[in-house]
Amino acid sequence: MSSQKALYLLQAKGQFAIKERDIQEPGPNEVLVEIHATALNPAEWKVQTYGIFITEYPAILGCDAAGIVKKVGAGVTDISVGDRILFQGDYGNRYATFQQYSVMPAELVARIPQNLTLDQASSVPAAAATAALGFYNPKEAGGIALTAPWEEGGRGKYADEPILIIGGSSAVGQQAIQFAKLSGFSPIITIGSLRNEAYLKSLGVTHVIDRAAPLSALPAAVKAITSKPVKVAYDAISELETQNAAYDVLAPGGKLIIVLTGAVGKDKITSEKEISNVHAWVHTPDQREVSKILYANLTGLLESGAIKPNNIEVLPGGLAGISEGLERLKRGISAAKLVVHPQETA
Ligand SMILES: NC(=O)c1ccc[n+]([C@@H]2O[C@H](COP(=O)([O-])OP(=O)(O)OC[C@H]3O[C@@H](n4cnc5c(N)ncnc54)[C@H](OP(=O)(O)O)[C@@H]3O)[C@@H](O)[C@H]2O)c1
Repeated sequence: MSSQKALYLLQAKGQFAIKERDIQEPGPNEVLVEIHATALNPAEWKVQTYGIFITEYPAILGCDAAGIVKKVGAGVTDISVGDRILFQGDYGNRYATFQQYSVMPAELVARIPQNLTLDQASSVPAAAATAALGFYNPKEAGGIALTAPWEEGGRGKYADEPILIIGGSSAVGQQAIQFAKLSGFSPIITIGSLRNEAYLKSLGVTHVIDRAAPLSALPAAVKAITSKPVKVAYDAISELETQNAAYDVLAPGGKLIIVLTGAVGKDKITSEKEISNVHAWVHTPDQREVSKILYANLTGLLESGAIKPNNIEVLPGGLAGISEGLERLKRGISAAKLVVHPQETA
């Protein structure tokens, strides 16, 4: 078989349409994967709505995926045909995942352990990378340079240090909670809807602050939980109000990780607190080194349950279900990843 179906965004701010395209050949050190599950991300509705990130159309989007290896390119030794893998593709047609087959650099895929389905596995890559690269990348690559749990002495290193994670119920927040737990942080305080409290605690959160409470009360709410200085905050929402509230909570010497453009007021920025803007595009040169190590460790972390997949909801219709799924994501969903099955496309 040489042809496949792919979902194209036809033009900037345009419509999606399913079209046939050739299945690509894996180049050296790449694998060809048959995509069985791809998860939706907010960036995709933002690309469609605002015309950002993409310069060449028609364009295939999608970056979270899981599937089965069909071919390996020259030089690939660790991954074999038939392996179940998860990976973070890239927008632009070669590595994008809103298609039935994609190629991927073999160093940026992880085998899926038996305890995870392909659907569950597809929920992990982008969120895990956004969390891990924020925590463990060097400052110049958008991180705060914590010692990673896979480095010597990294697991549990930050024991008894508090951390604030804004938006723990988001896909990124759920992974940030779990990496914070691996790094030893305690207490792990998050802001989220109280309906998700039990779920968030199952991931490692110790305290949930109701997101319905005013953010102006956040410093006092955190002080009521811990008297220790908060030196690390991860804002998985990164709206104007959340960034400013997180910055207010940080003690001198503190570090704030944000996932969108910086919005902390110029009047309150001080040299005593750092802000790092994570860019979780694992393919780009400045993200690649830590990403490779993350992927080398991901199978074990998932197999042991140290990192759990997000909650998922599978949408019907294969690639045709994506457009409506992105509309739902834009309206806002709670603690769930929307997943489609490209192989079920009519
Ligand atoms: N920089 C990067 O590389 C990068 C990578 C990935 C994502 N992102 C960005 O990160 C953001 C999160 O992405 P995602 O996929 O994790 O989103 P998501 O899963 O769709 O987020 C939905 C969740 O956000 C929570 N939420 C919304 N507003 C909140 C607030 N004010 N306070 C607390 N919780 C709030 C909701 O929590 P409740 O259910 O508890 O109400 C809901 O569960 C997006 O803006 C995305 O574009 C950036």
